[in-house]
Amino acid sequence: MSSAFQPAAATSSAASIEIMPIGRQHIAGFHAAVDRVAKERRYLAMLEAPSLTRTRRFVLDSLKAGAVHRVAVADGDVVGWCDLRPKTAATLRHTAVLGMGIVAAYRGQGIGSRMLATTLEMAAARGIRRSELIVRVDNAAAIALYRRFGFVDEGTCRNYMRVDGVDYDALLMARLER
Ligand SMILES: CC(C)(COP(=O)(O)OP(=O)(O)OC[C@H]1O[C@@H](n2cnc3c(N)ncnc32)[C@H](O)[C@@H]1OP(=O)(O)O)[C@@H](O)C(=O)NCCC(=O)NCCS
Repeated sequence: MSSAFQPAAATSSAASIEIMPIGRQHIAGFHAAVDRVAKERRYLAMLEAPSLTRTRRFVLDSLKAGAVHRVAVADGDVVGWCDLRPKTAATLRHTAVLGMGIVAAYRGQGIGSRMLATTLEMAAARGIRRSELIVRVDNAAAIALYRRFGFVDEGTCRNYMRVDGVDYDALLMARLER
């Protein structure tokens, strides 16, 4: 994986990028990819990745709990992720929360669509009936992607995020499996 602090140069064509279930061997690369996207300060709730130790626990715990977690891999480097984690409360286990991101140089090539399609398909097979997420209202690319996959706006979370002293509204979006 390239350094989390250097811009990525996309050297792989989208077709050569593999989408696969996350494994232990991807955890460091996943951590670096999350860190890069978080440090853009525009898309994620976090502004840097949690520690590698916490990230490892997050991945291993969520796999144990039945989450679907895919990564996009280019020449051995993790360049994106898509995870859908079921809620744990007794009445909410049919609901899962989506998170995804792709490092900047690899966006707009259909990788997000490929990851989301396989993640939702696998989640439905595991009994997830509702997928939900919260996205900043100015994240046009993500909102367009989610709408294309059948996510519907359920409401606006006002002043949901605060970055560098500026408040941002966010949309709660959800998709139901029929
Ligand atoms: C959101 C994200 C995952 C989409 O992944 P991607 O690989 O770039 O998406 P795709 O190439 O599959 O494109 C999907 C759709 O996004 C939309 N899209 C892409 N770029 C866009 C832009 N700049 N403005 C509006 N819509 C855009 C298009 O509708 C596109 O569909 P199309 O191919 O029919 O035109 C990616 O942009 C990303 O990682 N963003 C930063 C992190 C983030 O926002 N995560 C989600 C937080 S809720």
